[in-house]
Amino acid sequence: MNHDDKSGGILILDFGSQYTQLIARRIREFEVYSEILPWNVSPDEIRARHPKGIILSGGPRSTVGPDAPDIDRSIVSGAVPVLGICYGMQLLANMLGGSVERGRLGEYGRTSVKLDKSREAKIFKDVPDGIDVWMSHWDEVSKLPDGAVSLGSSESGACAAFSMDNDMITALQFHPEVETTQYGREMLSAFVFDVCGCDANWKLGDWTARSLAVMKEQIGETDRIVCGLSGGVDSTVAAVLVSKVAGDRLDCIFVDHGFLRKDEADLVLEMYKRLNLRVRRVNAQDRFLGALKDKTSPEDKRKIIGELFVRVFEESAKSEGGAEWLLQGTIYPDVIESGFVGGDVIKSHHNVGGLPDDLEMSLLEPLRELFKDEVRKIGPLLDIPDDFLKRHPFPGPGLAVRCLGSLTKERLDILREADAIFIEEIKSSGLYDSIWQAFCVLLPVRSVGVAGDARTYGETVVLRAVKSLDAMTAESVRLPWDLVDRVTKRICGEVPQVGRVVLDVTGKPPATIEWE
Ligand code: XMP
Repeated sequence: MNHDDKSGGILILDFGSQYTQLIARRIREFEVYSEILPWNVSPDEIRARHPKGIILSGGPRSTVGPDAPDIDRSIVSGAVPVLGICYGMQLLANMLGGSVERGRLGEYGRTSVKLDKSREAKIFKDVPDGIDVWMSHWDEVSKLPDGAVSLGSSESGACAAFSMDNDMITALQFHPEVETTQYGREMLSAFVFDVCGCDANWKLGDWTARSLAVMKEQIGETDRIVCGLSGGVDSTVAAVLVSKVAGDRLDCIFVDHGFLRKDEADLVLEMYKRLNLRVRRVNAQDRFLGALKDKTSPEDKRKIIGELFVRVFEESAKSEGGAEWLLQGTIYPDVIESGFVGGDVIKSHHNVGGLPDDLEMSLLEPLRELFKDEVRKIGPLLDIPDDFLKRHPFPGPGLAVRCLGSLTKERLDILREADAIFIEEIKSSGLYDSIWQAFCVLLPVRSVGVAGDARTYGETVVLRAVKSLDAMTAESVRLPWDLVDRVTKRICGEVPQVGRVVLDVTGKPPATIEWE
């Protein structure tokens, strides 16, 4: 796609930092297009994008050690401004004639930095001289390149920032993209607008109009498109978008694998109807339960569900005579995470990795350049109701990975009932929208209790609620105790098979959000 608002944006070369996506998201919040490419992309590919500025991200490697990722010198030749962050700063120092050494102590976490405002570096124009920043490094710049000026130092005396060539090169040892860094947004904004001279022209309304025009051309007047709807935000937004240009030529298939939440299939299908999507529901619960009989290992479950899902979907798609295009709700993080970043494959995403090799359709992925929050923002432009867009993320294998141990209809129903109570109480306490994900897990553990005078031996339900920005890390939510108490009493009272409710307070890391 050749979008005018994409040239003139900020290009980020990724050296594998966990925060790289955050840099791009922050810049897009300023309505400036930002794209992430692997660090070893060729200078020609960079030039072809006409960036107004380049950011070199942080990364796990050391410029001092062997196999340090390096870039072509022409990228920092002065044609466009460059900002180096953490590893990016050390790389710039090394390339431009300075040196980097292994520090004695390293700096991790919140650190105070004293800035030298007399240098009048643009990046700090709206920043006071003493701030707290987020540091995460062992190496430090021990000698500045000729012509570079130090812009400040941390408590340990390490160089915290430098600039040279009238701000054409700026380097920060800390992470301005991380919330903990005070005035981080001001620094990135100063780089984007004052140093690089970008225009705020990445508007999602314009993106939507252009994306429709491009798709219209791609699919022509007669092509048919098939799409698997999951009830999630991404596939729904993708389908509604395409339906605007494809109308009845879009055939949506909703595979009900039996691992959905209470009443979810009916609610979601009702909403699809209101959005004028033509959806076929395929009831495959028995097929999935049969294939998973006695399977308890998380990996086995995921694999079986993934493969069967593709098979059921394909059968259903073929039964309607096939299509030229397969529509997928792939979003930008899926694209980045499936690629080579910092030299290593991070993970193969289910949207990208789960497709058969001999797929006979072309892929249509209209959302592949958007972040999740951008997908949510174009939802209202397509008349998708707000409460639907704000639904918590739900994994593809659904309750199958929240019902630990063997999967039976009875155990799944217990989990569905408990989960519905937890979510209902979270919604009525007004906390739903401030929580990233809340759900119940059913454990393969029973415990002894008393009901009246009788001994019970009931199931165990876990309550899990997490806060997160992007699911890469998460913190447990400190739920009000009266809410936990109410939910516990209701679950034990209304779901008689449950004898005990426990609360999961583990963050990610070390745990993951899901239990399997
Ligand atoms: P974890 O458990 O890895 O989950 O911390 C991170 C986020 O991804 C969701 N998740 C999935 N989503 N298919 C999906 O579409 C999956 O197989 C899957 N597994 C985990 C999870 O709910 C959380 O939001």
